[in-house]
Amino acid sequence: MQNFSAVFGRFSVAAGLAVLLLLTTCRPFSPPEKEAVPLAEHGMVVTAHALASQAGLAVLKAGGNAFDATVAVQFALAVVYPRAGNIGGGGFAVFRQADGTVGSLDFREKAPAAAGRDFYLDSLGNVIEGMSTSGHRAAGVPGSVDGMVRLHERYGQLPWAQVVQPAIELARDGVVLTESEADNLNRFREALTALNPEGTAFVKDTTWVPGDTLFQPELAATLERIRDEGRAGFYEGETARLLAEEMERGHGVITAEDLRNYEAKWREPLTGTFHDFRVIAMAPPSSGGVALLQLLQGSEQYPLQRWGHNTAKTVHIMTELERRVYADRATYLGDPDFFQVPVARITSEDYLNGRWASIQPDRKTPSEEIKEGEVNQIESLETTHFSIVDSARNAVSVTTTLNGYFGCKVVVGGAGFCLNNEMDDFSVKPGVPNMFGLVGGEANAIQPGKRMLSSMTPTIVERKGKLYLVVGTPGGSTIITTVYQVVLNVLEHDMTLPDAVAAKRLHHQWLPDKVLYETGALSDEAKTQLEALGHDLEEVSKLGKIEAILVQPDGTLVGGPDHTRGGDDFASGY
Ligand code: GLY
Repeated sequence: MQNFSAVFGRFSVAAGLAVLLLLTTCRPFSPPEKEAVPLAEHGMVVTAHALASQAGLAVLKAGGNAFDATVAVQFALAVVYPRAGNIGGGGFAVFRQADGTVGSLDFREKAPAAAGRDFYLDSLGNVIEGMSTSGHRAAGVPGSVDGMVRLHERYGQLPWAQVVQPAIELARDGVVLTESEADNLNRFREALTALNPEGTAFVKDTTWVPGDTLFQPELAATLERIRDEGRAGFYEGETARLLAEEMERGHGVITAEDLRNYEAKWREPLTGTFHDFRVIAMAPPSSGGVALLQLLQGSEQYPLQRWGHNTAKTVHIMTELERRVYADRATYLGDPDFFQVPVARITSEDYLNGRWASIQPDRKTPSEEIKEGEVNQIESLETTHFSIVDSARNAVSVTTTLNGYFGCKVVVGGAGFCLNNEMDDFSVKPGVPNMFGLVGGEANAIQPGKRMLSSMTPTIVERKGKLYLVVGTPGGSTIITTVYQVVLNVLEHDMTLPDAVAAKRLHHQWLPDKVLYETGALSDEAKTQLEALGHDLEEVSKLGKIEAILVQPDGTLVGGPDHTRGGDDFASGY
């Protein structure tokens, strides 16, 4: 305990004593071993961290349904996976109830009332470097807590306090860090220190090593307020006061009124077909559902199975589809409460067949022939996804995010949670790329109270009217193409779920006009053929990090955590 004051910098003496007491009475939680191919009969939870999966599983075993487990997992991830799990961010839930009813909840962050179109521009109209990605002004009004409250109010079975409790225990009793957790805390040490000069639980006086325990007493206290007061435990009272104080310290603009006004929104999910499967996906303000349905409709026009997985012919066509879909994204997609998004039109057969008509089998279409723009390099695993199926076969697919790892890197003083930097998902200036290299225009311009466009693609697939696949991934702009490929791998290439998840992936997003490919995704022959068609190829280490569940023909569940791309992804079932 010699480093107590350094480790707990900003914490009060009382909080410190509470931790000391707990250290002597409670054991921290350690992640268990992974299973090679997780199978289950009754229910399953697949997340980016074993302890979050176990929190969800415990709720299922206690008689909770998939919605109860969703709340437990969302809050547990905020503790054990603080780089992307959150209460200071937002997300989307797509769900299918046991009776086949489908729905979705939008708990995406919103722009504060003080933010407007030119919020990130200087007096000359130039983008102020870093302002939409780092620090207090990069944060949107968080939606995760309201989202969980609403989901639970409408669909939960167990008491609210019972489903929030596991996260409180993880925060208070401590979590033993895995290698990936320790690495990530160390990687962001400098930024976290710079933005939180009074210290946070995430920074101690030495670097983290695997096996260290992360205690988060301030976050535990915030979660207790959420447990005891529900929505008011976050958007009002002590937590809101601490957040307002934090804003004042860093000249941020989120006000008590912004917090009080935040409301998650029920939205009709988008549905489409692919061969004899039904695909259920998120509507705007996520672009994920529109883009996925567009890509699948386009894929149906070509014999991709016959051409084979990741052959030059297949990759060429998928790239050409992606190029056109991402160009549509930049122009037409935004928050439907503020901009008339032509969803029906741009997902119609008519429109899409016209869109694909310019695809040529023997050469790529340069992106500038579709629309002009400039962008930076992209490769990112930020955000996190979890998939849950319960014994009645209710299914919930949630993608949730702080945007960048640890969001804007501000940890709310006294409240212990990271704030998002989701404002960067707006188009801060038409044609200027965001941190994922995505460009946008009017549809996604900043307005007070508006939700920023997302790529998150939580998805559910039915086969013959029954639940078949629950899937999603992190990865910024690469989320859409990662989900697309895993869905194609299962539905078109007949792969098993573990193979579909492990298969190497590629990505193209219109701009930059580059095909990113994971190491090993393409044979030398395929590379030569694609280059001959004009494609500019670039190797990257990884794309996406899937968390999926598939219902097998006998009704049992197989888990698809992404075991091959590093990290602690984990399926817990029973
Ligand atoms: N922040 C990533 C996304 O919403 O697409």
